[in-house]
Amino acid sequence: MMTSPIPLCEPFLNGNERRYIEDCLATNFVSSVGAYVDRFERDFATYTGSPHAVACVNGTAAIHLALHACGVTAGDTVLVSDFTFIATANPVRYLGAQPIFVDSETASWNLDPARTVAALEACARAGRLPRAVLAVHILGQPADLGPIVDACARFAVPLIEDAAEALGARYTAAYPHAQVAGRQVGTVGLIGCFSFNGNKIITTGGGGMLTTADPLLAKRLKHLSTQAKLPGLAFVHDEVGFNYRLTNLAAAMGVAQLEQIEVFLARKAAIAARYAEVCARRGWTYHPVLPGTVPSRWLASCLVGVQRDHLIERLTAAGIGARPLWLPLSSQAAFLSCQTHGTEIATKLATEGLSLPCSASLSEAQLDHVCAVLDHA
Ligand SMILES: Cc1ncc(COP(=O)(O)O)c(C=O)c1O
Repeated sequence: MMTSPIPLCEPFLNGNERRYIEDCLATNFVSSVGAYVDRFERDFATYTGSPHAVACVNGTAAIHLALHACGVTAGDTVLVSDFTFIATANPVRYLGAQPIFVDSETASWNLDPARTVAALEACARAGRLPRAVLAVHILGQPADLGPIVDACARFAVPLIEDAAEALGARYTAAYPHAQVAGRQVGTVGLIGCFSFNGNKIITTGGGGMLTTADPLLAKRLKHLSTQAKLPGLAFVHDEVGFNYRLTNLAAAMGVAQLEQIEVFLARKAAIAARYAEVCARRGWTYHPVLPGTVPSRWLASCLVGVQRDHLIERLTAAGIGARPLWLPLSSQAAFLSCQTHGTEIATKLATEGLSLPCSASLSEAQLDHVCAVLDHA
C-alpha cells in the first residue's frame, strides 16, 4: 500500500545542481550573464550534435524567436501539428499569423507526413505558401520528418522542430531518409526548440534552447533574445528585440541536469517498457515507436479506449498522478476559426489517451503499484 501520492512527472535533482548553483551565488553571477550560460549552450550543442545552441527563458520563447527569425509576420500562415500542447501554436498568434492545423498519424502520433505534404501542395496551388512548417516530436517520439523535409525543400519553406518534449530522442541509421538518419531531434530542420520546464527530460526550473546549424542564424537568435542590443557600452538597439535570456542560475542547473541525461533516458525507457507490458495484457495501445527512431519517452502515454475517464478516476483515487492527453488545438477557443487538414486522429488521442507516472525518480515499488492498479482497474 502506497502512502504518498505518485506525481505524473517531477524533477529529479540528484547531481551537481546544488554545487553549481552555489557557485553562482558565491561568484555573484546570478542573472543573465555568466559562465554557466555559455557552458550550457556549449554542452547542449555537443550533446545534440548541433553546431550552435542559444539558451533562452523557456520553450515558448524559443518557438516565438524561431518563428520570428524565419520572418513569420502578420497575415502569414504556419503549418502546425493539431495534436500538441498549446504552447506550440500560441507564438504563431503572437506574431499575428494563423496556424493551419494538420492531423496526426497513428504510427507516431505526430504530423501525418502525407497530409503535411498535401497541405503544402494545396497552399502552393492557392499561391500562398506557409511561412514555416512547425513539426512537434510529441511526448518524445520523433516525427516522420523525411517526407516533410523533402516537401519543405521543394517549396523553400523552413522547417522548425518543436522538440520541447524530446531531448535525447533520435533517428537511427535505419531511418529511411539520408538527411535525417542518425540525427537527434531538433537538428533536422532549420531551427530546433527545446524546453526545460519542471516536467521535461531535463529541467532548469524554466528554460529553453534553440539549435541551428547556421552560424548567422544562431547569432541573430542570440541578438533577438538579448533586446537586439549591439555590442558596446552604449545602448544601441538595431531592431525590436526580446528579453528572453536564460539566467546563469538556471543555466547552472541545466549543466548539472545534462550531465545526468543518459540516466534519465534509460529510466524512462524502462518505465515505458513496463507500461507497454500492461497495455499488451489489457488490449490497450502504448505510444508506438516509429521504425528507425529512438524516443525519449518523455511522458508515458497510452490509448485505453472509452474507459479513459474511469481509469483516471481509479488512478487518482489510488494516489497516482494520471492526466488525459491534450485536446486538438483546432478545438481550443483561440483556434476555432483556423483551417484544418483532418482532426480524426488528434480527436481519438484526446478522447482515449492518458499519461501515467514517469519521473526518472520513480521507484520500482511505485512502478509496481501503478502497474498493479492498471492491471485490476
Ligand atoms: C510540445 C511543447 N511545446 C512547447 C512547450 C513550451 O515550453 P515551456 O513550458 O518551456 O514554455 C511545451 C511544454 O511546456 C511543450 O510540451
